[in-house]
Amino acid sequence: MTTGFAPRPTGLSTPSPATGAPTRGAAISVRGVEMRFPGKDSDVLALSGLDLRIEQGQFVSIVGASGCGKSTLLRLLAGFETATDGVIELDGVPVRGPGPDRGVVFQDYGLFPWRTSLENVAYGPRRNGMSRRQASAVAQEALALVGLDTARDRFPGQLSGGMQQRVAIARALANRPSVLLMDEPFGALDAMTRSSLQTELTHIHESTGTTTVFITHSVEEAVNLSDRVVVMAGGAGSGLCGHVIADIPIDLPRPRDVTAAAFNEYERAISDLIHGDGS
Ligand SMILES: Nc1ncnc2c1ncn2[C@@H]1O[C@H](COP(=O)(O)OP(=O)(O)OP(=O)(O)O)[C@@H](O)[C@H]1O
Ligand SMILES: [Mg+2]
Repeated sequence: MTTGFAPRPTGLSTPSPATGAPTRGAAISVRGVEMRFPGKDSDVLALSGLDLRIEQGQFVSIVGASGCGKSTLLRLLAGFETATDGVIELDGVPVRGPGPDRGVVFQDYGLFPWRTSLENVAYGPRRNGMSRRQASAVAQEALALVGLDTARDRFPGQLSGGMQQRVAIARALANRPSVLLMDEPFGALDAMTRSSLQTELTHIHESTGTTTVFITHSVEEAVNLSDRVVVMAGGAGSGLCGHVIADIPIDLPRPRDVTAAAFNEYERAISDLIHGDGS
């Protein structure tokens, strides 16, 4: 059985033989978004006047100081929370809650410890109505995509942190999402594992064409992976609410050379923006 994970050009609409679902990335439109959390003395205005457009199949990283609203934005995109004002749309359809069209990966893996890798990855497709056989085939292909086909019968406790995060990525991909949302997914990994997962994520993005929103505190990681790096500012202690201050297309060929002068230029410019020296 084939499940539609074969390489294909980014941005094309190809039906998946296993699910019949479209497999290209969705366009994301965020317009005038405000997020206000009720506080004890006063409300916390985490985001205000936030506009962001991400094209089908783009890989966009979001960077910015702690508390500027990156995770809040990601949770709104995932549909875990609802913005207090503004519009969030995927391919023109308003986001009204979580859905299988969006795969989410957090820093802490979030796997079921009592399920094997295969069972963890097959869980979503099963819940979405696939037969056991079909879900198992989809899960096996997703695990192969992250280089873990040999660990399918192992439990999370028997896997390294990098392997667990691979399973979490496979699980997010198994529903054939049109958008992949990742919140500091490699933040807890050592430098070598992080670097190899970055390479793998680039390959996965090239082969699936999934629109990807990736939050990181590593400017090098953002420049290495992304078509665009969006810089946010505001939040805790700044007196301002979270908003976008810069949107920088990364015009470098892949695979990227992190030691190249042009790469370092991007890193320096983005770091200056984050630390408030660049505007
Ligand atoms: N559920 C909540 N209730 C109240 N305030 C919240 C809630 N979630 C987030 N906030 C506030 O919203 C602001 C943005 O938080 P958010 O977690 O989005 O920041 P972040 O950019 O992801 O930070 P970090 O880089 O540290 O992960 C912060 O001031 C935070 O305290
Ligand atoms: Mg965060």
